[in-house]
Amino acid sequence: MTDTARRQIVAANWKMHGSLDMIQGYVGHLQPVEGVELVLFPPATHLAPLVSALDAVEARVAVGAQDVHDKEAGAYTGEVAATMVADLGGRWAIVGHSERRRYAAESDELVAAKVVAAFRAGLQPVLCVGETLEERQAGDAEAVVARQLSCVTNALSAEAIRRLVVAYEPVWAIGTGHSATLAQVETMHSAIRRVLNDAVDGEFAATVLYGGSVNEKNAIELFSSSLVDGALVGGAALAGERFMTIARAMHEAGRAAG
Ligand code: 13P
Repeated sequence: MTDTARRQIVAANWKMHGSLDMIQGYVGHLQPVEGVELVLFPPATHLAPLVSALDAVEARVAVGAQDVHDKEAGAYTGEVAATMVADLGGRWAIVGHSERRRYAAESDELVAAKVVAAFRAGLQPVLCVGETLEERQAGDAEAVVARQLSCVTNALSAEAIRRLVVAYEPVWAIGTGHSATLAQVETMHSAIRRVLNDAVDGEFAATVLYGGSVNEKNAIELFSSSLVDGALVGGAALAGERFMTIARAMHEAGRAAG
């Protein structure tokens, strides 16, 4: 099949932060950035008001959920189905974030089922993978990420694998103020692409983002690498102007997609 081109994406994961007030201020800062897809992941409760606020200012910014359930509907109190996210105008879903794996004990198998559910609902999944500090210190970073990826690719068609967006988020870099070094990111992004290519038995242009203490300063160096297709940003993306500065850094890196 024809190759999908690599995409450039800067996304904000608001985690459990946000309010209607914050949304009003945030959207006022948003502007299109040529060649860069902008995506906001608010808490599920704030998805619909964010979609409305973005529509009101005609912002070309997509919205997604931070998690989806693996089932389409049923007696699952407190959960949100991927179809419900799509119903509200969400187009994306983060799946397998390390905070879900850790605090909600999500297994690789459950993450795989959630990716399948997201695709089934027509959402673009962003699959998060990444090792803990202990795993890195034991020399297992690549093996851990390969296991996390393979469990998902085993559940997907080759076509779906080619459409997957992966975010490499080392657990030890999240929320610590200490981003991984560019060399560490490049090594892991290359390893991720090898696993994805092996899974479809051929080379393709996989889109791989980095996440973990990205800010306006380190984004410039990270985006200078042809192996980094963008970022999934937490804390630094809680303010619209900071999110935009990072998005513009992706554009200014001047990287042709492909
Ligand atoms: P921080 O940017 O706050 O480290 O969070 C990264 C993250 O977990 C994005 O999903």
